[in-house]
Amino acid sequence: MLRKIFALPDWYDDWNQKDPVRYTKAIVFAILGVAVISVTTIIVVIHPYGTDSLQTGPRGTGMSVPEFKFDLAKPDPDIAKLAEIGDLDGDIIKAMQAWTGIPNLFEDPDSYQYAVGAMMIAMTQNINENWDGHVNANGEVGVTCYTCHRGQAVPSEIWFTIAPVTKATAGWASVQNRATSLSQSTSLPSNALESYLLDTQTIGVHDLESRVAGVPGQDDYPGIQHAERTYALMNYFSNSLGVNCVFCHNSRAFYDGGQVTPQWATANLGILMVQELNNDYIVPAGALLPEERLGPRNGDEPKVACKTCHKGYQQPLQGTNVIGDWPVLQSTEEVVELP
Ligand code: HEC
Ligand code: HEC
Ligand code: HEC
Repeated sequence: MLRKIFALPDWYDDWNQKDPVRYTKAIVFAILGVAVISVTTIIVVIHPYGTDSLQTGPRGTGMSVPEFKFDLAKPDPDIAKLAEIGDLDGDIIKAMQAWTGIPNLFEDPDSYQYAVGAMMIAMTQNINENWDGHVNANGEVGVTCYTCHRGQAVPSEIWFTIAPVTKATAGWASVQNRATSLSQSTSLPSNALESYLLDTQTIGVHDLESRVAGVPGQDDYPGIQHAERTYALMNYFSNSLGVNCVFCHNSRAFYDGGQVTPQWATANLGILMVQELNNDYIVPAGALLPEERLGPRNGDEPKVACKTCHKGYQQPLQGTNVIGDWPVLQSTEEVVELP
């Protein structure tokens, strides 16, 4: 039958009759062949592992941030959610209710949410007015309640103080060698955020001179503990923005402010901004919070850092301009009329 249709040569029939197993082999090889060709086609044509790289420094220095093209093409789902919320006819009260997911926000002047919300308005205006160099670094982006809250009363990616990590011991060991989310699941210290973004200790790893007199960490230059804690903070920065170290540094000279990228300067402003947000707004607002909102270990208020806004993206909401429609949140001179 097959012979009639395909006019197969006689030698093939003879060959096949002598060893019928060959036929099975042929089928197996055909299937394998098709599989190999399909996989090759998918890789070559569709390019699932294709990467794109963002060049951050001079050519030839390896200063680039590579990412899978498939990931790059995926928009942050929160952008669509923000679009669904809409502009609510420009009604700022309704907008703040939607952004924070608190439907009756500002309806009861005696509630703690009313008082905290009022402080949050002042904080948001301050961010947009006085930290313009950070939140509008590449063009108008700005910050609204949604940047942190994303439709939830308590924003994600907040943090609490943790030190001492090991209650049984005191001193340096007690903040280290516990893989916590604050140490980015490494054995680096877990107290970097509280040391640098609440307290304002000096970020640094060593003295740039060789053979300095004195004791590292005690005599005005960083010791090994500062180095470890600095690296914990830097890991946090990278994870908060979804970038690697050369997004901000030239890796041959981490210490040299003359070889950094423009993003380093934006990040540096970010450090000062976060210190101010925590000390001037978040900690005072925390005094109004009920107990169930406070930290599990030290009973402190939930605090802000880079990831509270960035959520793992280079720019929050991938650089969507969230402030343009809301001039009332752009300046501390504006007054939001509360009911
Ligand atoms: C920079 C990030 C950030 C921005 C921007 C922000 N918030 Fe918050 N908000 C927080 C954090 C962190 C908390 C929890 C800590 C606290 O209450 O002190 C919080 C808590 C709150 C709470 C208390 C919620 C509860 O149930 O405990 C309210 C209400 C609130 N924010 C309203 C707002 C409003 C309204 C805006 C915009 C005008 C806003 N927030 C902007 C970070 C932010
Ligand atoms: C988003 C930008 C950014 C990223 C990403 C980043 N850094 Fe930094 N880094 C900074 C800034 C800004 C400073 C300076 C802070 C200061 O001096 O107050 C700094 C400081 C440092 C220092 C201290 C230098 C000194 O003066 O002693 C080291 C070391 C360092 N970073 C290493 C790293 C490593 C390693 C990574 C990757 C895991 C990394 N950084 C990722 C922005 C960044
Ligand atoms: C209050 C919200 C908020 C916080 C907190 C925040 N950022 Fe940002 N950041 C932004 C916004 C908004 C932009 C986008 C600015 C633009 O693209 O115009 C941005 C941009 C940046 C950029 C520039 C990215 C680029 O593509 O050029 C860097 C770097 C950065 N942030 C680092 C940090 C670091 C490090 C921290 C913590 C110390 C931090 N940010 C905390 C809101 C925030």
